[in-house]
Amino acid sequence: MKSSTRRTFLAGLATAAATPLLTRLSHADTAGRPLPVPPVMETHGEPVTLDAISGSSIFQPGLSTPTLGFSQPYLGPTLRFRRGTLARVNVRNRLNTPITSHWHGLHVPAILDGGPQLQILPERQWSVEMPIDQPAATLWYHSHVHGRTAEQVYQGLAGMIIVDDPSAPDSGLPVDYGVDDLPLIIQDRAFREDGAFHYANRGPARMIGFRGDTILVNGAIRPVAAPPTGLVRLRLLNGSNSRTYLLRFSDERGFHQVASDGGLLPKPVPLTSIQLAPAERAEILVDFSDGRRVTMLSGPDHNNPMGRNMPAMMRQMLGGDPAQFPEGKPGEFEILSFEPHGKPRAAGKIPDAFPGAPRPQFGDPARTRELVLNMHADGRGPGMPRGGQPSVGQMGSMGINDNPFSMDRVDIAMNRGETELWTIRAAEMKHPFHVHGTSFQVLHNGRRDVAFDSTGLKDIVLVEGEARILVRCNHVATPDIPYMFHCHILEHEDAGMMGQFTVA
Ligand code: C2O
Ligand code: CU
Ligand code: CU
Repeated sequence: MKSSTRRTFLAGLATAAATPLLTRLSHADTAGRPLPVPPVMETHGEPVTLDAISGSSIFQPGLSTPTLGFSQPYLGPTLRFRRGTLARVNVRNRLNTPITSHWHGLHVPAILDGGPQLQILPERQWSVEMPIDQPAATLWYHSHVHGRTAEQVYQGLAGMIIVDDPSAPDSGLPVDYGVDDLPLIIQDRAFREDGAFHYANRGPARMIGFRGDTILVNGAIRPVAAPPTGLVRLRLLNGSNSRTYLLRFSDERGFHQVASDGGLLPKPVPLTSIQLAPAERAEILVDFSDGRRVTMLSGPDHNNPMGRNMPAMMRQMLGGDPAQFPEGKPGEFEILSFEPHGKPRAAGKIPDAFPGAPRPQFGDPARTRELVLNMHADGRGPGMPRGGQPSVGQMGSMGINDNPFSMDRVDIAMNRGETELWTIRAAEMKHPFHVHGTSFQVLHNGRRDVAFDSTGLKDIVLVEGEARILVRCNHVATPDIPYMFHCHILEHEDAGMMGQFTVA
């Protein structure tokens, strides 16, 4: 570890005194509610309206938690966009602070993308008509106000998007939403004793990203899903601010990954565990035909500049680590459980291949670029102001190519339809790098070549040292409303590890 990093960490310890009393939720208290399934909003007919509201949610018996949501107290409905149609969405802001609604993973012109330039002021409405033209995929939406994204998403301003493609040949996958096709939005949170969310975006939490010790799935603590016995499709979305999960099943059962960020993989990939970085999605097919109860677990997240050696005290300051799952490997904790119902029956057939899956048609790059993700873009540590309570503007900054994010600077100018090769470098820790408005192909990551068949099209890559990606954009982004690229650890994004690009 570089000494500047150590200094930052030690300085961060000084803020420990300000940490409020936190509760650690025991398994017995809280787990076991049935899995909530967000309602669906179809968007291809009359316009639909999302209302950003504040409310309160009961996560723990007898305690209410102030939360934010879209048209419900926490999170929002699942939006279904249909390829070949116009999605008409109104977003109304019923809060007393600006928000945005960014369609993460959607291929639309930047003016429809909901980035930080497209703020919706209190009591205002933003109406969009978006031509949907991309492969079927699992995406999401979330607020994206610069400097406030981490906190607003943490409070609940996020939801899932499913893009359907009626023109693609039937994939043979389960499609009964909420039954054998289950959305799973995985998030970590921390709670104060009075039931309120605990969140801090300073000191080590700003440096490493905030982690909580309690897992929510679709807004419930370690819930229980009751899928039919048989093959079930799980749409996994890591909606956490900074935690990377390593997911597996408690009985070591295998499963197949069938889709990633940008849609179907060419064929199902057999796995026994899967990594999910912040904002990443994966669709997996799990066989519950034996009817047995099983738990989905995650391994610990060691993505920080000290790796496994991060002191326990510092972990606690970040919001803590979830309690160990009794029968798990060291550090493993519970995400949710599955109690299949109905008579055991023969498992459905896992498709051999997905001929309609998107293909990587990038061609030779016309240009190469290098992007270095900096955790210390101004020579100070992030979150380490020179005295006093910092505002976002005064915080030490993160950046890209030594430039902290600025709304007034366009960092990259791309040409429409032209492929570029980007090399992204990240020291100290891994960063989930994201590009708006398109999907990219990962060629190489962490000293390994990456096979397209194993990852498909992506909009997030967890950069391990160095990654190379092929990027092309087919939609326009002007200098006043450009697209964004950034680290999707939301505390890093808010600290300035973000840039803007145009597409002409
Ligand atoms: Cu999830 Cu800039 O986005
Ligand atoms: Cu995005
Ligand atoms: Cu980062």
